[in-house]
Amino acid sequence: MSVWFFSDSVMRLGAEEAFVYLARGLELKRRGMDIISFGIGQPDFQPPEHIIEAAKKAMDEGYNGYGPSTGLPELREAIAEYINERFRIDVKPEEVLITVGAKAAVFIGIISLVRPGDEVILPDPGYPHYDSVVKFVGAKPVYVRLSAENKYKMLPENVEEKISDKTRMIILNYPENPIGTTLEEKEVREILSIAEERGIIVLTDEIYDYFVYEGKHYSSLMYEGWRNILYYVNGFSKTFGMTGWRLGYAITNKSIIPRLGTVANNLYSCPVTFVQIAAITALREGFDWFKPILEEFKVRRNLIYEELRKLPGVKLLKPQGAFYVFPDFSEAIREAGLRDERELADRVLEEKGVVVIPGTAFPHEGGKGHLRFSYAVDKNQITRGINRIREWLENKGV
Ligand SMILES: Cc1ncc(COP(=O)(O)O)c(C=O)c1O
Repeated sequence: MSVWFFSDSVMRLGAEEAFVYLARGLELKRRGMDIISFGIGQPDFQPPEHIIEAAKKAMDEGYNGYGPSTGLPELREAIAEYINERFRIDVKPEEVLITVGAKAAVFIGIISLVRPGDEVILPDPGYPHYDSVVKFVGAKPVYVRLSAENKYKMLPENVEEKISDKTRMIILNYPENPIGTTLEEKEVREILSIAEERGIIVLTDEIYDYFVYEGKHYSSLMYEGWRNILYYVNGFSKTFGMTGWRLGYAITNKSIIPRLGTVANNLYSCPVTFVQIAAITALREGFDWFKPILEEFKVRRNLIYEELRKLPGVKLLKPQGAFYVFPDFSEAIREAGLRDERELADRVLEEKGVVVIPGTAFPHEGGKGHLRFSYAVDKNQITRGINRIREWLENKGV
């Protein structure tokens, strides 16, 4: 008998399929196809020069060794200072855990706090990592279906009706991947207050908090009772274009930080040292450089929304945040005689060189009939990519 079988928990892990489609697109490109990618959620701008310079300088100055598992004290302090100035609150450096990407902050939070048999309430469709890790620990995902009835948002009443004696955690992600909706102050506060009353942890992932095109982002850290229930996640990947640098953080009750550091220690020892030094510069140099980027992303959002709206058999919502749109292609899929959104994603990739992610790559079922488009690409590519999809649909008689 072969020795190469896996543990049960590892077999319960799911893969983030955006990475699978990224690889498929790259392979077709290598073979000479002209690829337009609306696939992976990666900003198309480079980190500002001052951050890159700070990383190089940090390496030259010798920041190349191990550091504390909870992160460098200087960066924990810089994050607390930046958050406090931005949201007018009083986070302490001891309440900050630096991690290798926001993903690791989510992973560490769930595996540390959720037990087998617990229930975790999360959005459907949602960022696949949540569902995967909840299943990995042997807990049960309890999905809140995002649909037209709740304006594609996890509203307080939706959360409340899913709470049971077994609920251990509620996961909020706003602005939301993959739909792009966001929550308002009143909605966030109400969910946090329900959770506080019922003694349930809330993991909020606010990684897209700078990509908000209407209104202002309300952070869950502004809720007075946050220390009783909140596990807040954010990171440097999206805002600073630092996806490959792998730096994120969690903010939570300081009593649990040392043990979370022990988990981090067992996983990766410590976050990358020179990247942490560069991140201090990123936070202290201000965000003026980001303003034109946000403007540009807003223009792209409007453009992709208008272009998709004109496609036959397609319905969609205008997203308020992040850099995704999540149109419903159900009618087009039916009229083209396709099986489902997976077949549509495969066909437009193979026949037209357009990378899109099937909605069901975002658990659980809410993404049926949908495709996710990341519009972190230039306007010309948006127009060309959607045109190719139009041609494909028209060719199939839609
Ligand atoms: C909602 C959400 N959280 C976390 C992450 C991961 O961020 P990081 O690159 O910092 O691990 C992503 C990336 O796509 C995301 O969409």
